[in-house]
Amino acid sequence: MSNKIRKAAFEDLKQHRKRLSGTTMRELFAHDPERFTTYSARFGDILLDYSKNRIDSQSMAALFDLARAVDVEGRRDDMWSGKPINVTERRSVLHMALRHFGEAPVLIDGADVMPAVRDVLVRIKGFSNDVRDGAIRGATGEQFTDVVNIGIGGSDLGPAMVTLALAPYTRPNLRAHYVSNVDGAHIHDTLKGLDPAKTLFIVASKTFTTDETMTNAHTARAWLAKSLGEEAVNDHFAAVSTNIEGCQSFGIREDRIFGFWDWVGGRYSVWSAIGLPVAIAVGYENFEAFLRGAGEMDQHFLTAPLEQNLPVIMGLMGVWYRNAWGFATHAVLPYDQRLSRFPAYLQQQDMESNGKSVTLNGKDVGWETGPVIWGEPGTNGQHAFYQLIHQGTSVVPCDFLLAANPHEDLSPHHAKLVANCLAQSEALMLGKTEDEVLTELKGAGLSKDEIKALLSHKVFPGNRPSNTILYSRLDPETLGKLVALYEHKVFVQGAIWNVNSYDQWGVELGKQLAKALLSEVESAETAQAHDSSTQGLLAHFHSLKG
Ligand code: F6P
Repeated sequence: MSNKIRKAAFEDLKQHRKRLSGTTMRELFAHDPERFTTYSARFGDILLDYSKNRIDSQSMAALFDLARAVDVEGRRDDMWSGKPINVTERRSVLHMALRHFGEAPVLIDGADVMPAVRDVLVRIKGFSNDVRDGAIRGATGEQFTDVVNIGIGGSDLGPAMVTLALAPYTRPNLRAHYVSNVDGAHIHDTLKGLDPAKTLFIVASKTFTTDETMTNAHTARAWLAKSLGEEAVNDHFAAVSTNIEGCQSFGIREDRIFGFWDWVGGRYSVWSAIGLPVAIAVGYENFEAFLRGAGEMDQHFLTAPLEQNLPVIMGLMGVWYRNAWGFATHAVLPYDQRLSRFPAYLQQQDMESNGKSVTLNGKDVGWETGPVIWGEPGTNGQHAFYQLIHQGTSVVPCDFLLAANPHEDLSPHHAKLVANCLAQSEALMLGKTEDEVLTELKGAGLSKDEIKALLSHKVFPGNRPSNTILYSRLDPETLGKLVALYEHKVFVQGAIWNVNSYDQWGVELGKQLAKALLSEVESAETAQAHDSSTQGLLAHFHSLKG
């Protein structure tokens, strides 16, 4: 589909927006008692309720037409068949192979990747079990009580988010820590209080060249060697990377190096050996259940008709708001405390994937692409930024995530959490009209003048869109399904926007300039020519340093 035709499709969506602009969701619900049934879809215990969106049957039909016209299904099948859909890096995109437990081979250029995937899984299982059981110990014979993962981006956010989400499956005497920032405060505060003799480090880096990770890894190594000697490094370090030579030259012994492959993008790598700290923290069986859950969502994505396909529906909702309504941000609001890092994880997954402004063949896109993703867990967000979502001038489409069953039997917490979640999406959709406010204020006995002064402040415009994703319990399998759901949503949107969702050139310039600036930060003598702002900041920095 040429870009011209895509543009025409977005224009068509804008016509649907115009048609719908005079109607509120409140009215749509009032006129159609079947609205929830029509606009909800299920996969297993996961329910996606998208009825609280500014949609009707015609706009939905136009969105599904668009998905067909851009051949989302064909592009999806290309991904799964190992075609190098990451065109700028000439790579296949096969993270789905990492959670594929079927018999069928997964091919790249005719070669099955599955035997290597299974080998690494067997090694993850062996190593994680041995660390948990104490068969693998530190140099002094102590059992490991703390695992420190050193990585950044996809080598950090995925496993850190999953470990937190699966906290009920962890042991108090085996803690996983995540160090990512090059800010020395991060590693300093993490190591403070840890016992080197009981600490295992995992250096996680797809490239094994990332400056932040290598800097932290060397600091960790020095910290360990200082108390246990250089020879102890062997027993206290493991690595996960596609760069096996890099791991070896850091001094990691061969049986502690876990490989993965260039067809796994960093932000899609939690399913690979990058998940090793998760397997150690929650046990291999739970890690595998996480993979299997994602594998089930993959099958759903690969086979369900578009109209019932959860990732497709979510992707289309996002396109609808981005390209027809111009909404620039999207909030992810888990009413599930243990998903508190999920929005941060999704920021990388979504924004690094679809924050692009050229098409696959390098032409300027003529439409909006990825939105800003943000969010915090409910109910904390309610007491912080929900004011803007309800009454601000920007419309923020939201995803609410909610489990029916908590892990804790702590009545009345969960009932209150659920009530708050449902109340928020209802309030966003309904709003509160002037008449309703008036009745309320009169009922409260306020004077005419008081009512006049307050009225407009207390009106809620409503008609604010949201999806609700309701599942049984945040267990490993469900978490796998949820993460894969969002991955595929991002895929669908990338296909519609015609961008390469699997490269990330936008992170390179800053890295290059930081390298160049380092010597100037370290010494005022080495100053080079910069813009006046950078020069001024450097000068002030050196004056503050004394
Ligand atoms: O700089 C961005 C990025 O390349 C991410 O895509 C990636 O997840 C992260 O850096 C870390 O890279 P690596 O795993 O190679 O250290």
